[in-house]
Amino acid sequence: MSRRFYIAGNWKMNTSRESGVALAAGLAKAIGSGGSVEVGVAPPFVYLLPVGEALRGSRIGLMAQNMCCEDDGAFTGDISSRMLKDAGVAAVILGHSERRHVFGESDELINRKVVKALSDGLKAVLCVGELLEERQAGGTPDVVSQQVKIGLEGVSRAAMSDVTIAYEPVWAIGTGVTASPDQAQEVHAMIRGLLENLYDAGVAAGTRIQYGGSVKADNARELLAQPDIDGALVGGASLKVDQFAAIVQAGEDLSR
Ligand code: PGA
Repeated sequence: MSRRFYIAGNWKMNTSRESGVALAAGLAKAIGSGGSVEVGVAPPFVYLLPVGEALRGSRIGLMAQNMCCEDDGAFTGDISSRMLKDAGVAAVILGHSERRHVFGESDELINRKVVKALSDGLKAVLCVGELLEERQAGGTPDVVSQQVKIGLEGVSRAAMSDVTIAYEPVWAIGTGVTASPDQAQEVHAMIRGLLENLYDAGVAAGTRIQYGGSVKADNARELLAQPDIDGALVGGASLKVDQFAAIVQAGEDLSR
């Protein structure tokens, strides 16, 4: 089964309405209408509508960076899956390391969000990844396996077609230090093996696993060339049209 590359831009808490719309319009133009790579961008919540407008007619999907695990109701300050769908969002990033480590989200909470997103018709990008001290202590397989296992609890085999996993070693996020292609490949292959244990060979072969952590135009190609790396979740470099477009192009050039 060949997995189509999926390149997603996580804008984090960046841009203004004006610069976000300009970025989206610039990307729509640079990335064009044809290609085999799936592309998405996740602007801040308050800019979803104008950015979605700027992406209209392009092949770039609108994503969100997070959501609440509850239905609409008394949850001050939060955003529901229904609201995201209403704003035109197709996919949501869940369990990003900043949500885990800055805001204290647990595997259990992230799992509730994953289940909610999928049951409400959103695609989910489940982020996992170890801290530097966990890697140094040899704990990467255990930490990442636990995050994947709990994150996917209650997700059916059928629903897995709407799930992407993003492996983002925390020590590589926003640091300029990228995991080497071999380091990333090793963990991606481990995750794929785990999916086979949790589900079956079909799910393992069909689920896309993105790499994230200091992906840039000049290292995207060697990462995407790895057999189990199926795309990238890009932070800093997704804020620059030429950088992000070049990462998408690397995927086009290597398309399977
Ligand atoms: P970075 O962020 O590309 O700036 O390292 C990646 C991410 O956090 O998704």
